[in-house]
Amino acid sequence: MALSWVSYTCIAILLASVYFRNRLRIRTSHVEREAEAEKPGRAKLNDGLSARGRQLRAKLIAAIPHIVITPENPTEFQELTNAYWDQKACEVKPSCVVRPRNVWELAQAVKILKREFDIRSEQAKQSGEGIEPVFAVRGGGHSPVAGASSIQGGVVMNLGLFNDITLAEDRKSVGIGAGCKWIQVSKALEEQNLAVAGGRNAAVGIAGLSLGGGLSFFSPRYGLVCSNMIEYEVVLADGSIETASATTNPDLWRALKGGSNNFGIVTRFTARTFPFTTIWSGFLYLPSFQYSKVLAAFSSSISRTIHDGTSSKRYDPNVSGPLASFTYQQQLGIQSISINLAHTAPPETSLHWPDYWRTSPFAKLWRLWSTCKVRTLSSATDELSVSNSRGRRQAFATTTVKNDVDTLHAVHKAYRDAIVTIKAHGIKKMSWTLVLQPLLPEWALKGDANPLGLDAGAEGEAWVVVSFTVSWALGKDDEVVMEITRSAIENVDGFARERGTACRFRYLNYCAGWQKPFESYGEDGLEFLRGVSRRADPDGLFQRGCVGGFKLGM
Ligand SMILES: Cc1cc2nc3c(=O)[nH]c(=O)nc-3n(C[C@H](O)[C@H](O)[C@H](O)COP(=O)(O)OP(=O)(O)OC[C@H]3O[C@@H](n4cnc5c(N)ncnc54)[C@H](O)[C@@H]3O)c2cc1C
Ligand SMILES: *[C@@H]1O[C@H](CO)[C@@H](O)[C@H](O)[C@H]1NC(C)=O
Repeated sequence: MALSWVSYTCIAILLASVYFRNRLRIRTSHVEREAEAEKPGRAKLNDGLSARGRQLRAKLIAAIPHIVITPENPTEFQELTNAYWDQKACEVKPSCVVRPRNVWELAQAVKILKREFDIRSEQAKQSGEGIEPVFAVRGGGHSPVAGASSIQGGVVMNLGLFNDITLAEDRKSVGIGAGCKWIQVSKALEEQNLAVAGGRNAAVGIAGLSLGGGLSFFSPRYGLVCSNMIEYEVVLADGSIETASATTNPDLWRALKGGSNNFGIVTRFTARTFPFTTIWSGFLYLPSFQYSKVLAAFSSSISRTIHDGTSSKRYDPNVSGPLASFTYQQQLGIQSISINLAHTAPPETSLHWPDYWRTSPFAKLWRLWSTCKVRTLSSATDELSVSNSRGRRQAFATTTVKNDVDTLHAVHKAYRDAIVTIKAHGIKKMSWTLVLQPLLPEWALKGDANPLGLDAGAEGEAWVVVSFTVSWALGKDDEVVMEITRSAIENVDGFARERGTACRFRYLNYCAGWQKPFESYGEDGLEFLRGVSRRADPDGLFQRGCVGGFKLGM
């Protein structure tokens, strides 16, 4: 962790001083003062609660007082409601946080929420108004979608105390509490020389990532993260505690592989393990003028994977990436490129690059720095989380295109055009990043079936998941940042549609709030999910009572 910090800092300094020495007049203190001035004051007692909201809180306190945290306990309440990755979510204050210690307490709380939902539904029917949302579910708190895991004036179901990690006796699977972060999982399994297909970023929660699909270093080998979950323990809308696996509730089991928070609250994930020791992983840092070569190298390394995959044994599912990031830092006035390369089965003692990457165009690209080396998985995931600091406003947006160099150039142009707009608006401390990563339909066929509809991809075709990850300092810029992000996506989609390189899929975990990931799964996938919802949650608690995140639109 410390080391990667040092190298990241070195690179930032190197880039800044070599290329933009004269532009380093940062008025940090000024910007920070403004950000400070925008922070909301301490939570006020009862602020803005509806009568129903107040009654619900009173019911929860009466029934399960020891797990309800209210603003009357300001230290703990602030700590829990400020613990989101996205500063926007930290500013949303619930009426209370319910933090159960076990599945029975959680089930009891859900029953109370369901009764409240039934009352509100009945009232809504009579008054003809909409239902006031009841609660939100929070796993690792890393979604930047407004209201995905937070709720103004409602109840936040916080899974923070579900943090058990239990290896099965046969060592073939591991039970992971829904409040865990990936670093806890990789640390625990490392001691056993095991791993699971999991997130690439240490700080991200296992719940949201796994329920939305999950792109892993191990996806080329084992498929998506969700396709490696052999069992879920889940509390349904009626408060019943169910197991979902290939043999028990198989439809629910499949629906949870990409269906997000539409079916129930998952309390435990059981993931398939495999023997694992070390990963070769790291970043190449390049000056931004190299972008054209990077796009070419990116595209050719993916098509090589594809073509070698169908014809010869040189195809290596242990290769992961490239993950190419193009960043503009408003504060420094600089752009840079970083590329993560990985190999999940490197020769352990080797100091050399794995063959696949050594013979790829990336090896020949002139770069400022490389941190690639053989290391533990937790060290690799730590390195990926260093550049994602907390305390800033965050947004994502995504689309998917076919692997085509001209389309990638159009994507990069959309990224550059946005920089012009960002400069024109002078958006403080804005960090604007375009991330490209490969997605092969055949990965989606590995592991258990999921409803994402990726298997509909044409044989031998490679896709590129395009995403923008954005952070900034001030609430007054929220709207314009959303507009910039949305129009960048629309520009890419427009180009891809015309060129015939558009893809239907939108990866849920990278979607902006205005996007519709479930529609991108295709009609079969969406209808399947809706059917499971009708059976598991006939009154629609998780459609209209828990509205945060992405809903099935029924
Ligand atoms: C820095 C960073 C790196 C990332 N890296 C990757 C990556 O390598 N691969 C990848 O695939 N994605 C990655 N993501 C995206 C990530 O998958 C999403 O941000 C995801 O939403 C995070 O899940 P969470 O549990 O932390 O978030 P939360 O905000 O807690 O939850 C996200 C959604 O899941 C729902 N949810 C959470 N817990 C439960 C539960 N127990 N039961 C039912 N519903 C629940 C919430 O209601 C919410 O709608 C990354 C994100 C960030 C910020
Ligand atoms: C990938 O790694 C696994 C585990 O080390 C190994 O068994 C397999 O042969 C590797 N595959 C290739 C194509 O090198």
